[in-house]
Amino acid sequence: MQSKTMNNKKTNIHAPIVEALKKAYDNPTYQFHIPGHTKGLGTLSDFRNLIGKKAMCLDTTDEFDNLGTLTPATGPIKEAQELAAKAFGAKRTFFLLNGSTIGNLAIAMGLTKKGQKVIVNRNCHRSILTGLIISGAEPLWILPEKFSQWGLWGNIKAEDVEKLLNENDDVSMVWITNPTYEGVVSDVKAISEICKKHNVPLIVDEAHGCLWNFNSKLPETSLKLGADIVVHSLHKTGGSMSQSSMLHIAEDSKINADDVERALMLLHTTSPSLLLLASLDASRANLQSDKGQRQLDRAIKNAKYLRSEIDKMEHIHQLKSDFGFKTDVTKIFIKADGLSGKRLESILEIDFGIEVESASDEGLLLLSNIGNKRSDFEYLAECLHKIDEHNYQDIYYLENKKHMPMLTPIIKKNLREAYFSEKEIIPKEQAVGRLSGEVVAECPPGISILLPGELITPEHLPYLTDYETIEVLKN
Ligand SMILES: Cc1ncc(COP(=O)(O)O)c(C=O)c1O
Repeated sequence: MQSKTMNNKKTNIHAPIVEALKKAYDNPTYQFHIPGHTKGLGTLSDFRNLIGKKAMCLDTTDEFDNLGTLTPATGPIKEAQELAAKAFGAKRTFFLLNGSTIGNLAIAMGLTKKGQKVIVNRNCHRSILTGLIISGAEPLWILPEKFSQWGLWGNIKAEDVEKLLNENDDVSMVWITNPTYEGVVSDVKAISEICKKHNVPLIVDEAHGCLWNFNSKLPETSLKLGADIVVHSLHKTGGSMSQSSMLHIAEDSKINADDVERALMLLHTTSPSLLLLASLDASRANLQSDKGQRQLDRAIKNAKYLRSEIDKMEHIHQLKSDFGFKTDVTKIFIKADGLSGKRLESILEIDFGIEVESASDEGLLLLSNIGNKRSDFEYLAECLHKIDEHNYQDIYYLENKKHMPMLTPIIKKNLREAYFSEKEIIPKEQAVGRLSGEVVAECPPGISILLPGELITPEHLPYLTDYETIEVLKN
């Protein structure tokens, strides 16, 4: 299978979609099919020039030019999915367009039913909640530990999963997020052993951990720790294009992959972008290549370098794995004395031209990516040293708005029932005491502030400063 050589002569890395797309590009046909921009001629020339003629020529969808189909997977797309399954250590891998969001929706739709109980961590991504609203499964919430000093959620405790499983003998699955957006890692092995003991499948939203299987210095992927399904946002840190993700079914899972595939077929676009699919194929191939291995190694070294520089600073601190849980070294969460995370973010952006991954009330998140150079980190460290030495406290930024929801929900009505109840839109000032009718979540990280059926309290208001009105359930 690994006969063709892409841009990595040593390891003979094979990327079937990339190769098929190149062949189609090199052998153009007269095109009387979608996409109607016909190799970019039917669009604004400024746009075509901006992204390049070649990119427009390559923007095609499945079924044409022997490129295969996504659902069901055929041709180069099928082969690429099989290669990805092998690379990630899965029995089956599905390529996802519309990100891990669609993976989570398909899991909920394909594997849960109305009224079934699902154990979920409350700080999950909103796509899981949307999935549960669609399927009508009933979430049994786990509230991970809160690290208020850092404004962060901690890991999911195996004991909490076990307690809920002991209290409820009709749980249909356990669905956890690992790692958190900021890289906090849970003990998935212990959780999976508990799930196996109770004969309940374990699903892991590993959206932020797609690199783990490619370097032993990173945490172990849940696919190797007993999870049944793992979802990866390759576009986040794996090097593929935005919106492209993967869903993996573990080797020894009893889950019926066809149930997931059927749900994906219902949810996916019928015009998948070959560019996005090729980028998934390319990112898997790159991560397996010598070059990709070096890039990942460099990302880890760069992260360690930055961390060692931060250790020298007096007023800037970093989240480390000595807080009682493991972390992913490439996700660097920092905070500065006297500055909110948002203020630190704006100093980096305005004064130094640095864009960070995200900022919250307490701190901000920096990613050490496979595409970053050492010089990027040298510049970042230099700027952080300048901030550390400069007394910014005199312009301490008073934030009215809060960003990372850390509240304990007061649930008054079932999620789906509330979502489909009669609702009204009222001024935010009148919202306290009413039940939310909508999912309120700020992205990133897409963790919910309020869910349908939850009581709105004064503590929610600092998270709602951008809202003039809010949808609530009719009394
Ligand atoms: C934990 C988690 N799961 C799922 C998603 C959705 O991923 P995507 O943007 O690939 O749809 C996100 C996005 O931020 C996330 O943080």
